[in-house]
Amino acid sequence: MSEAAPAPILEIEDLRVAIQSKSSRTPVLRGAHLRLDAGKILGLVGESGGGKTMVCKAILGVLPESARVESGSIRFEGRELIGMRARERRGLLGRSIAMILQNPMTALNPAFRIGDQITDVLRLHMRLSKAAAERRALEMLNTVHIREPARVMRLYPHELSGGMCQRVVISIAFSCEPRLIIADEPTTALDVTVQHQILRLIRDLQRQTGTSVLFITHDLGVVAKLCDSVSVIHAGRILESGPVEQIFSSQHHPYTEALLNAAPRYDRPESVLHPISTELREQLARETEAYDRGHALA
Ligand SMILES: Nc1ncnc2c1ncn2[C@@H]1O[C@H](COP(=O)(O)OP(=O)(O)OP(=O)(O)O)[C@@H](O)[C@H]1O
Ligand SMILES: [Mg+2]
Repeated sequence: MSEAAPAPILEIEDLRVAIQSKSSRTPVLRGAHLRLDAGKILGLVGESGGGKTMVCKAILGVLPESARVESGSIRFEGRELIGMRARERRGLLGRSIAMILQNPMTALNPAFRIGDQITDVLRLHMRLSKAAAERRALEMLNTVHIREPARVMRLYPHELSGGMCQRVVISIAFSCEPRLIIADEPTTALDVTVQHQILRLIRDLQRQTGTSVLFITHDLGVVAKLCDSVSVIHAGRILESGPVEQIFSSQHHPYTEALLNAAPRYDRPESVLHPISTELREQLARETEAYDRGHALA
């Protein structure tokens, strides 16, 4: 008997989102599809403007007001999120689905002490008492390797470095034991040595907790270190998806190949970087246009 296929925690199918103004409609997600299995890390990779953040916002239900979901499906643990009542959907955020953003400073409130920001989340979502929330906050700060957690609890975000703030954000994201964490370029705003520490921390916590992670990045090197599988996005279309070993070893889409060749290799500093060719850009632009012609709204 064959083994049962692992259950997807997140499944996106044919997601089409366009920015709508009075006179124009600009597609930003063109039939995007993703599948994240429970307990795994899926990397969503692509260049700037490809639609990575739009995918996150669509999952969280926080698309810009001008954006319209034209079709498709987003299922979280089998439940359809598109069309779900706002209140029910908000109930999932923080508790079942948590976020780690690129800039920890925008995730933390500058006016409140670190300790209060962690305990507020714990009291709201886990219904802990003040004392229990404080104990758990100290424990979480320890888990993300913050030294002197009791002192840090009393500080404001501006008194911490960017890397420390991101550790606090990560502690908040994991503190309510969410089943899915969406991390949108969580290391891009940090310097390289701190980036490595933060990646290792996310990987270790993910392994300990078994939380599923959708990890967004433009860096295939990060994908190789961290992710189980990867989806490559360009102009709102998923060009390729598969297990990480497959994407890095065998035949792949020319765009994935180009991203691999355009990324610096830390293990081979002498290697030459190849910018993405004009021919490939033109080919992708033709494919995108063809998609739009085939999916023009009546
Ligand atoms: N608030 C908005 N209103 C209108 N268009 C937007 C808005 N936010 C993003 N877009 C457009 O949607 C497309 C996808 O943007 P998105 O932010 O998802 O890209 P990204 O892959 O996350 O890029 P980056 O790597 O720079 O973060 C882009 O063409 C962008 O210009
Ligand atoms: Mg983005």
